[in-house]
Amino acid sequence: MDTILLNGRPVSISLLEKLKGRINKLSTNNVVPKLAAILVGNDPASQVYVNSKKKVFENHGCRSETFHFSSNFNQQEIIDLIEKLNQDDQIHGILIQLPLPKTLDSKKILNSVLPEKDVDGFHPFNLGSLLEGNPTFIPCTPNGILEIFKFYEIQVSGRHVVIIGRSNIVGKPLFALLAQKFEIGNATVTLCHTGTKNLKKHILEADILIAAVGSPKMIDGKMIKEGVDIIDVGINRIDDGSSKGYHLVGDVDTDSVLGVANSVTPVPGGVGPMTITMLLHNTVVSAERCRELELSK
Ligand code: GUN
Repeated sequence: MDTILLNGRPVSISLLEKLKGRINKLSTNNVVPKLAAILVGNDPASQVYVNSKKKVFENHGCRSETFHFSSNFNQQEIIDLIEKLNQDDQIHGILIQLPLPKTLDSKKILNSVLPEKDVDGFHPFNLGSLLEGNPTFIPCTPNGILEIFKFYEIQVSGRHVVIIGRSNIVGKPLFALLAQKFEIGNATVTLCHTGTKNLKKHILEADILIAAVGSPKMIDGKMIKEGVDIIDVGINRIDDGSSKGYHLVGDVDTDSVLGVANSVTPVPGGVGPMTITMLLHNTVVSAERCRELELSK
């Protein structure tokens, strides 16, 4: 079996092309979609992500401003900033880069973002709307995965999806989305986690396997059913002697599933490029909603 590599880049390019017209239309009305990104502490990976977001936004006629706090900052000062950004008409999206330092109350900080500006889709109102089947902002990585399914015409309806990992960012929202009677959905979904007994049995039963664990190459070609479609969300840094100091691998040993799986997303270059694209998408949607609200006044 020839395994199809589900590259995220062409999916991302096609979506960005469609967004271009919408961004231009907003700009003729003097609206520039703008994100406020809040970064706390000095996690190198988080810094890379926030800088990449800024670059993508600026390359596509949008803006992104980063607010950087040191990890010993007072939590209330961060919340005060969020409340100021909530009231700022020029800001359409507010993103708190995760993970936050453990000394902070992540829930309290995330919940202080106005749901209308929560372009990450992490606020309980937005998560509840998603669960109800009426999503307002779909979290970016799950939304990017839906777009990969659509672009590569991977059938989801009626199939058995096994998700490994119950994070609020990936596993839980994907579980809720793929079980809904949506165009990309209507699947039977099993959510596996650290409490799952006999994980191997579940993996072997998957028609679509989604790994979002953060455990380098934990899944190999001997553990999967022939013809499975695999989405690898893992981005694990492996230290090496290269000039960069590390290379990235997924939760799946990609080489070993070639010839067994029907398709697999590579790491890097699979799900990764989709996340920022969907963040830009959600920020444009937010700017359009703001504009419509203004016009209706
Ligand atoms: N950290 C890892 N993924 C994400 C994400 O999608 N959004 C935010 N805010 N932080 C993250």
